[in-house]
Amino acid sequence: MYTVKEMHKTLDEAVSYINSEIDLEPEIGIILGTGLGSLVDGIEMAGTVDYDKIPHFPVSTVESHAGRLLFGNLKGKPVVCMQGRFHFYEGYSFQQIAFPVRVMKKLGMETLIVSNAAGGMNPNFEAGDIMVIKDHINFFPGNPLLGPNDSNWGDRFPDMYEVYNKSFVKMAKDVALKQNLRLQEGVYVGLTGPCLETAAEYRMLRSFGADAVGMSTVPEAITAHHQHNKILAFSIITDMGLADNMHPCSLEDVISTATKTEPKLRDLIAGCVEKM
Ligand code: HPA
Repeated sequence: MYTVKEMHKTLDEAVSYINSEIDLEPEIGIILGTGLGSLVDGIEMAGTVDYDKIPHFPVSTVESHAGRLLFGNLKGKPVVCMQGRFHFYEGYSFQQIAFPVRVMKKLGMETLIVSNAAGGMNPNFEAGDIMVIKDHINFFPGNPLLGPNDSNWGDRFPDMYEVYNKSFVKMAKDVALKQNLRLQEGVYVGLTGPCLETAAEYRMLRSFGADAVGMSTVPEAITAHHQHNKILAFSIITDMGLADNMHPCSLEDVISTATKTEPKLRDLIAGCVEKM
């Protein structure tokens, strides 16, 4: 467990290294999930910084994740993009998962955009759909805000009112309509993985009110909300988890559906950034 002073010291060391490499103050942070790495294609690149060069930064272990911060302009807005994120199932602590989100805040981030791959549990969904996240359920065995709190940074007991910005959700729907894109809206439940769910677990999670399930996003969203960022988040529904209609599901299926859907999500995110 770190002290508040240690937290700021490690963050400041990371930030000053990044600032020595990159001359751009990002307003928007983007975290890309499994199979969504090429979302960055629309970004006018200003530079990249590999995670393993940044002091105190965790390093990516999943092969499908690149592991660098990419800086540039998207639709004229300065952005920083995490190519590769950190999952609890890989063995990272919640503090480690929170670290890059805090670094991005110190770099200037006001808005966080998150994408992930998720299993659909709402029977109206199909694999290949995109869902804008309107709320979440934290089913992880912990929270990135456990431990000492710097009340100048964020509240000790942050309320969870409008974690996912309502006007962003509306904006995403408007943009999707203009792009002729079917956009679902729903509640994301985040849990550890790495197993996918049993039929009994999908049934339980659905009965809790969740529309999609995945292994990320919730810790980052809690961290960003605590530090007063606005959040826009999307799930690509890569497979359906319907308790009464179960099928085998491989990582290849998940990645191939994510990759196929990615161009649509890329346009949707670009359309939203344009309006921010
Ligand atoms: N469950 C949990 N995480 C996931 C799934 C799923 O069905 N699909 C993609 N990520």
